[in-house]
Amino acid sequence: MFSAARASALLTLVTAFLAVPSVHAISKITRSGRYLYNETSNRFYIKGIAYQEQGAVVASTDNPFGEPSTFIDPLALGSACQRDLPFLQQLGVNTIRVYSVNSSLNHDACMNLFSQAGIYTIIDLALPLNGSIDRTSPSWSTNILDQYTNTIDAFSKYDNVLAFNVGNEVVVSNATQVAPYVKAAARDIRAYLTSKGSSALVGYAAINGASDFRGSLANYLSCDLAGNNADTTAIDLYGLNDYEWCGDSTFQASYAATTSAFANYNVVAYFSEFGCITSPPRLWTEAIALFSSDMNTVWSGGVAFSYFPAESVQGQFGMVTISTDATTVTTSADFDKLKTEYGLVNFIDSPSQSSAGAASYPSCAAPTSSFLASNTLPPTPNEAACNCVESALGCRFTPTTSNSTAIVGSLLDTGCSLLGSSGGSCADIGGDGQTGVYGRLSGCDPTIKLSFVMSEYYELNGKTATACSFSGNGTVNSAAGASASAAASSCIANPSAVFTPSAAPTSGSNSGTSSGKPSTSGGASGSSAVALVGDNHTLVGMSLMVVVSVLGAIFTMV
Ligand SMILES: *[C@@H]1O[C@H](CO)[C@@H](O)[C@H](O)[C@H]1NC(C)=O
Ligand SMILES: *[C@@H]1O[C@H](CO)[C@@H](O)[C@H](O)[C@H]1NC(C)=O
Ligand SMILES: *[C@@H]1O[C@H](CO)[C@@H](O)[C@H](O)[C@H]1NC(C)=O
Ligand SMILES: *[C@@H]1O[C@H](CO)[C@@H](O)[C@H](O)[C@H]1NC(C)=O
Ligand SMILES: *[C@@H]1O[C@H](CO)[C@@H](O)[C@H](O)[C@H]1NC(C)=O
Ligand SMILES: *[C@@H]1O[C@H](CO)[C@@H](O)[C@H](O)[C@H]1NC(C)=O
Ligand SMILES: *[C@@H]1O[C@H](CO)[C@@H](O)[C@H](O)[C@H]1NC(C)=O
Repeated sequence: MFSAARASALLTLVTAFLAVPSVHAISKITRSGRYLYNETSNRFYIKGIAYQEQGAVVASTDNPFGEPSTFIDPLALGSACQRDLPFLQQLGVNTIRVYSVNSSLNHDACMNLFSQAGIYTIIDLALPLNGSIDRTSPSWSTNILDQYTNTIDAFSKYDNVLAFNVGNEVVVSNATQVAPYVKAAARDIRAYLTSKGSSALVGYAAINGASDFRGSLANYLSCDLAGNNADTTAIDLYGLNDYEWCGDSTFQASYAATTSAFANYNVVAYFSEFGCITSPPRLWTEAIALFSSDMNTVWSGGVAFSYFPAESVQGQFGMVTISTDATTVTTSADFDKLKTEYGLVNFIDSPSQSSAGAASYPSCAAPTSSFLASNTLPPTPNEAACNCVESALGCRFTPTTSNSTAIVGSLLDTGCSLLGSSGGSCADIGGDGQTGVYGRLSGCDPTIKLSFVMSEYYELNGKTATACSFSGNGTVNSAAGASASAAASSCIANPSAVFTPSAAPTSGSNSGTSSGKPSTSGGASGSSAVALVGDNHTLVGMSLMVVVSVLGAIFTMV
């Protein structure tokens, strides 16, 4: 334990700092090929730290990755940012990574403070629970897209957003068929950022793993599907959560193999997390290796994990503790050591921007037996089309609670199994990232998917009121069209359409057009239980699988 500082004293310092009139705007960072450069064409390296308090983690066999179910938005707490800035400055970081933010809160104080201090942000767009792409029953749907675009809308006005991550450790080695959903998210978020004139990079943070899985995923996310050397479906910034260097190690022993595996990678790559705790104390000598000539032509720095306390089954990753009244920061020996090592880092200013070359995007490889992801991506979620379908459905989900997340999953299970036994199918709402077949409603909000399933069941059972009850969760719509399927046909003209998403409807008004939308739904939703098109016998109630994490799976190379 080392120093303690009072927030009030810090506040004075910060205010004095802000009062200096000629504060230069933070330099814009630009990507050239696989490297980053600042406005004076110097190489930009991410010398970062993870900056988010850990949410609640309910340990259970359903939650093998220890993923949190709540979050605290660190960029909405101005006084906490002021409290922490001097410590971030002591570490000499130029970037913080933040895992979950709340787009409806005000972030001006923190973002402006960090901008004036020359600190960039990497912002993950996912939220715990239903706010992320669910690896066990994935969909790329309007509710997640809206959450992502709402966050971009809240942050694109700041000059210190380096990147938005579309996912963290979503794809794992035994669930590679979820990758098309992540790539679709990258495609649509890239188009959205371009439409807003934002230069923020599109990122993804990958779990480490066996090199064939890891490399296949990295290449899949950065390749061009059309074979035109185009960037339209590629990420700009590949993050590897890398905990390979433990204790007193060396470049050769810990990083050489991974570095050579990425020698020819085409987009910017960095360590989106590093800092192994299994051989304490942490020496942080890997920071020297990471920015050295052994690694600097492959990697653009990394993010040390973690400023705030963050606990996993392996132990404690945090480097400071915060007093219970939230005013005081106490640093640890771990913090001091990182400060020392980061202080020794020199950025190697090469290759030069002029020799970095243009970006290139290799054609995507065919799937393999160990990397199952199809090269056919899910369509862009189409809110207007989904709302059009919903308004014409004969039986609609009318939740009696605003917290309908949990029941949507179980009702989808029930609905699909009932539909199957009535001769119907849930294929229209499902999708399969391995075959590249996506149902017509696969991009719709889970509540609309549920209403669709209820309606088909209702139709197959003589449109009797009881067939729309679902224990009081369904309501007959007297203004319905001929059938759910007919509504889908007329509302969804092109089920595989890819287009630039527009801004989400402002919160509070669900969707202007859908007068039939149940007023209580409020966008409430749950993860679909339907994993595979037509897979009518193995529907599992995975209604709340969490895919976002502050402390994702810590993969240790053997
Ligand atoms: C770009 O980075 C270099 C090296 O870190 C630094 O000296 C220079 O001031 C930076 N340029 C701007 C415009 O911030
Ligand atoms: C965001 O903050 C608002 C206002 O405090 C709150 O009502 C809402 O639940 C928060 N959203 C999330 C996803 O935490
Ligand atoms: C993948 O592996 C994890 C961890 O071993 C396991 O919990 C999960 O059930 C597996 N998933 C599948 C689809 O096999
Ligand atoms: C919503 O319901 C789920 C499941 O019953 C529960 O775990 C969760 O805490 C509830 N959330 C809120 C905000 O009430
Ligand atoms: C269920 O699966 C069987 C066999 O795969 C198939 O013949 C049937 O059409 C499916 N039913 C539904 C409702 O998907
Ligand atoms: C709605 O469905 C849920 C989940 O199946 C069930 O627990 C509940 O009793 C149903 N009825 C109402 C009115 O919520
Ligand atoms: C998650 O569920 C909550 C509560 O039901 C809802 O308010 C929110 O809109 C949902 N988020 C997404 C992305 O579906």
